[in-house]
Amino acid sequence: MRVICRCEDIDEEEVLRAIREGYTDLESLKRHLRIGIGPCQGRTCMPLLIRILARETGRRPEEIAPTTFRPPVKPIPLGVLADRPGESENAGRAGDAEGDADHGTEDEPEGGGGR
Ligand code: FES
Repeated sequence: MRVICRCEDIDEEEVLRAIREGYTDLESLKRHLRIGIGPCQGRTCMPLLIRILARETGRRPEEIAPTTFRPPVKPIPLGVLADRPGESENAGRAGDAEGDADHGTEDEPEGGGGR
C-alpha cells in the first residue's frame, strides 16, 4: 500500500479504483476521494496524484488542469481574533495587521458628530 495523501489517508489503490470508476480529472478525484483538502492543501499529494492520473489516462502531467488552491490552514489563538491585548502573545500583531488605525468610532458622539 503506497500512501498518496497523508492528510486524508488515501492510498494508491483507492486512487486507481476511482480512476477506473470514471473519475478521470483532478477536480472530480478531489471531490470523490477528498484528496488534497487536508491541512497541507495538497502540497504533498497533488503532484503524486497528477503523475498517477497522467499515467493511467495516457496524458502528460502538463495536460492535467490544476484544482483550486487555497493557502494552508494555520491555527491562531482566539485572542488574536478578539483583539484582546494580553490574552495572546500575538494580540499586538493582529492590531498591527489592521494598521492599528483609530477609525474614530469610539470617541465619536452618537448621531455621527452632530453636523
Ligand atoms: S497530503 Fe493530501 S492534503 Fe495533505
